[in-house]
Amino acid sequence: MSDLVVARTRAELAAARAALPSPVAVVMTMGALHAGHAHLIREARSRGESVLVTVFLNPLQFGAGEDLARYPRTLDADLALAAAEGAAVVFAPGPDVVYPDGDPGVRVSAGALGDVLEGASRPGHFDGVLTVVAKLMHLTRADVCLFGQKDAQQLLLVRRMVRDLDLGVDVVAVPTVREADGLAMSSRNRYLSPFDREVALALHRSLSAGEAAAAEGPSAVRRAARDVLRAEPAARVDYLALVDPLTLADVPEHFRGEALLAVAARVGSTRLIDNVPLVIGRAGG
Ligand code: PAJ
Repeated sequence: MSDLVVARTRAELAAARAALPSPVAVVMTMGALHAGHAHLIREARSRGESVLVTVFLNPLQFGAGEDLARYPRTLDADLALAAAEGAAVVFAPGPDVVYPDGDPGVRVSAGALGDVLEGASRPGHFDGVLTVVAKLMHLTRADVCLFGQKDAQQLLLVRRMVRDLDLGVDVVAVPTVREADGLAMSSRNRYLSPFDREVALALHRSLSAGEAAAAEGPSAVRRAARDVLRAEPAARVDYLALVDPLTLADVPEHFRGEALLAVAARVGSTRLIDNVPLVIGRAGG
C-alpha cells in the first residue's frame, strides 16, 4: 500500500507539502476521479514529480441551476485511485477551508476569453475557475500544474492567467482520455442513462467527422460536424465552433493551420463538452 497523506486543513496541507521532494506537480480536480484524472497523475509521475492532487468541488464556478448539488462525491474511491496512481498527497478541503470568509469579494477575471463558448453558456464560470486555481496554486506552492485538453478553454485561460499575472507555475497540457468507443471521460458521464450514453457518442462522432474534412477547409469541417449532430436530435447542441485555439475567434474560410473544433450539448439532463485540435488544410486534421 502507498503512504498517501490526506490533508483537510491548510495546516495539514502545509505540513504535507513541506515534506515533498521537489518538483511538486499539482493535479486539481473536483473529485469523482476517473481514468482521465488518473492519466494526469501518471503523466506527472512519469516526469519524476511528486504529485499532489486537490479534490475540491468549487462552488464559485457553478451557476444557479447548475449541477453543484448533484455533482458526484466519491472521496473514498478518489483517495484509492490517487494512491494507486502514485500521488503522495491529496488535499481535500471543504468550502470553509478554501473560502474562510465566504465567497471572496476579490476574484480573478477571465476577461473576454471567458465570455465565449463555455463562458457564454455559463456566465462567471471561468472567473470562479481561475480564482480557485490561483488559490490552489498558492496554497499548494505548485511548481507544475497539469490540466486536460478535454477542457480546452479552461486550459487556455489558466495559461493566460499564469502569464498575465506572472504566477510562475509551469502549466502542462494532457490530451483527452476517451472510452474505447470515443466518449470523452468525464465525471458527469455518471449521470447518463444507457440511452443517453448512446446519444452522447454523437459528440465524438461529430468531431471525428469534422477532423476527417480538415483538408477541405473550415466550412467543410463545420458542415461535416453539424450533419452528424443533426442526425441525433436527442443531443441538444449548445454550440459547435471551429475557432483559433489562442483567440477562440471563429476561423474565417481562408484560414489554414491549427484550429480547435469544440462542441457542447445537453444529453438528457447532462451537459457535455468535447473538442479536438485539428490542422485546417491537412488531411485527417
Ligand atoms: P475536473 O472536471 O475534475 O477536471 C480536473 C482535471 O482533469 C482538468 O484539468 C480536466 O481537464 C482534466 N480532465 C477531465 N477529464 C479528462 C479527460 N477525459 N482527459 C484528460 N483530462 C481530463 O476541471 C476541473 O475539474 C475544475 O474546473 C478545476 C480545474 C479543478 C477547478 O475547480
